[in-house]
Amino acid sequence: MIPPTDRVVMISGANRGIGLAAAKHLASLGYTLSLGARDPASIPMDGLGDALTHRWEATETETSTDWVDTTMERYGRIDAVFLNAGVEVGGSLLTGTEDEFDLMFAVNFKGPLWLARAALPHLKASGHGRVINLVSLAGKRVMRAKILGYSASKFAANALTHAIREDGWKDGVRATSICPGLVDTRMVEDVTPAEGAFKIDPDDIAQTVAYALSLSNSASVAEIGVNSRFEHML
Ligand SMILES: NC(=O)c1ccc[n+]([C@@H]2O[C@H](COP(=O)([O-])OP(=O)(O)OC[C@H]3O[C@@H](n4cnc5c(N)ncnc54)[C@H](OP(=O)(O)O)[C@@H]3O)[C@@H](O)[C@H]2O)c1
Repeated sequence: MIPPTDRVVMISGANRGIGLAAAKHLASLGYTLSLGARDPASIPMDGLGDALTHRWEATETETSTDWVDTTMERYGRIDAVFLNAGVEVGGSLLTGTEDEFDLMFAVNFKGPLWLARAALPHLKASGHGRVINLVSLAGKRVMRAKILGYSASKFAANALTHAIREDGWKDGVRATSICPGLVDTRMVEDVTPAEGAFKIDPDDIAQTVAYALSLSNSASVAEIGVNSRFEHML
């Protein structure tokens, strides 16, 4: 197990939902945090101490390098990145628009790509770099044609995890996709779970992130599925 003390973790979308739950949990474990959000002032800092906050907009490439550079200036190291921020605007097979598909690929795949690329030299230098990528079970199988665009962008996000694993392997970088079903956040506030299904508590995903961060280099966990209903997939 890698102790959290002195490990610096960047979290995107830290202002609400899963990102905020992870920030609070990791702070309670002793990790040093660098928190990214489109509006850093919207991050509720209660329980987060004097963590660095920085603007990060997935669709603006330079905010990735700015945030990584600022984190290095403040802490001198980066040990992990939690690629959490994401968006779901549908992208239906039959009616999805070009704008919908473009937005989801920009936020769910390209933004995380630019952020991971900027951080990778520092993750390699740490000797035990970690990338935790909040994918989705929608990035493992397609159950609803009306969110094809979201699924496709999350399949791409999962590919990013595997590319990072391959590239960073010999330098001790380990990458993990976390693939949940429904999680109880604003993203799915209008979704009613099917009979027998439920919404996962964001704190359970936060604990899953902490678990993935805690493993040593000799355990590489590529994907973690977290179901919110019974299914044969996982
Ligand atoms: N909730 C679920 O059922 C579920 C299931 C599987 C996977 N996920 C994934 O979990 C991750 C976190 O989502 P959540 O459930 O916590 O939903 P959420 O409460 O809607 O949070 C989404 C986060 O992403 C940020 N974000 C959206 N567009 C962005 C952009 N262009 N640039 C930077 N940040 C942006 C939001 O920032 P603002 O506050 O500025 O909008 C917010 O911090 C996402 O990747 C999502 O796809 C969610």
